Amino acid sequence: MKLRNNFLWGGATAANQYEGGYLEDGKGLTINDVEMGAEHGKKREIHDFIQADSYYPSHEGTDFYHRYKEDIALFAEMGFKSFRLSISWARIFPNGDDVTPNEAGLQFYDHVFDECLKYGIEPVVTLHHFELPLNLVKKYGAWRNRKLVELSVRYAQTIMDRYKNKVKYWMTFNEINALFISSAPWHMAGILYQENEDKVNTMLQAAHHQLVASALTIIEGKKINPDFQFGCMLLYPCTYAATCKPEDQIAARNKLLPTYYFGDVHVKGKYTNTCLSYIESLGGKIEFELGDDAILAEGVVDYVAFSYYFSGIEGVGENIEVAEGNLSSGGKNPYLDMTEWGWQIDPIGLRNSLNSLYDRYQIPLFIVENGIGAIDELTEDGTIEDNYRIDYLEKHISAMIDAVEKDQVDLLGYQVWGPIDIVSAGTGEMRKRYGFIYVDKDDLGRGTLNRSKKKSFDWYKHVIETNGESIR
Ligand code: BG6
Repeated sequence: MKLRNNFLWGGATAANQYEGGYLEDGKGLTINDVEMGAEHGKKREIHDFIQADSYYPSHEGTDFYHRYKEDIALFAEMGFKSFRLSISWARIFPNGDDVTPNEAGLQFYDHVFDECLKYGIEPVVTLHHFELPLNLVKKYGAWRNRKLVELSVRYAQTIMDRYKNKVKYWMTFNEINALFISSAPWHMAGILYQENEDKVNTMLQAAHHQLVASALTIIEGKKINPDFQFGCMLLYPCTYAATCKPEDQIAARNKLLPTYYFGDVHVKGKYTNTCLSYIESLGGKIEFELGDDAILAEGVVDYVAFSYYFSGIEGVGENIEVAEGNLSSGGKNPYLDMTEWGWQIDPIGLRNSLNSLYDRYQIPLFIVENGIGAIDELTEDGTIEDNYRIDYLEKHISAMIDAVEKDQVDLLGYQVWGPIDIVSAGTGEMRKRYGFIYVDKDDLGRGTLNRSKKKSFDWYKHVIETNGESIR
């Protein structure tokens, strides 16, 4: 089997890390707009208001809001077949629960999609990427509250109806499983746990609300346009057993359970034994409403999208050192190198991940995030020789092609995370760059925002031109 002829090569972004224009044309405040930038290695502070004289990276992002034409032209020059972006709910419903949508916000995305379609680039839309109108946190307690199911479905219907002839590929929640495996409930659900809160039950219930919202969105979307293709989106924490000790194998399997929890509900339409045993192991419970089972059974996905950056190990031994990752961590593997941020580089892990997901779900997969966050140094003539990026991507794409050609995994496409430099979700930094296109901006927000091509720009262009043959 070969890569499909219409393989969706491209890149992926998120509104809160890229758009900027944080209060323009009627947009409301989001949970990201109150998350401060931080010094390298420090945690970002969050309040539910904007503090004077503080720096907030999302306010300007890297200014896609004003420069989308220039950026999409550069993506087109690389030959992108697809471009993943998220919609900012607060640009459409500034408070999240407004009665009528904000026309200026809707128009912005109309322009963006038109620009993509002009170049034959397929827009791939995430409805919720670590973002929520701040008002919904203050008024309802965010995803703790069932009310968000109704409000989010109304938002989704508005979007899907408006863009029904422009967008075909949708994802509901970015890395939805990170609510369980990360320590970022703010990003995932607008939640900062209260001191006496029952964290387990809050987390399980918020996840249930998102799963019902996701299924209802799919049900409503298919009514709007039966050709819509919906995916769930998982952070895939590829995990190996630390040793051949059988208990280590169980530990590695357990590490994946919270991820399969979300994949199972989305693909199989129910809480499977994996989900139920996980709930039991936590000693938690979920409150169902009448009809929830039927909603989950009907609102299943067409494809499974996932992000892949690193792998880790798990075991019962005490000497396993922790390695970092995106919103999650795993044990250190002596066979792997790591990035400057301590994420373990494992191209074969991508092939393993594709196989594990395809074995389990047997529906098309879509890699919607992969890449390396690195410090790029400008040379004297102003260029960037990002050979480390080319090396990382080349090896991962090659492993991906092995999964398709040798293992017959059905794959829709491959998108590099942050094809243009954007703000880091985890740290708020600019110095952690993923792009083929450099943006002149630093960690304190200084810079011209000018765009320039890195060495990897032409390299990726050639990969797309040859449908991956150039690196085989
Ligand atoms: C994923 C997110 O977890 O990893 C992105 O979906 C994020 O939003 C990406 O940017 C890379 O993480 P970071 O922290 O390096 O930006």
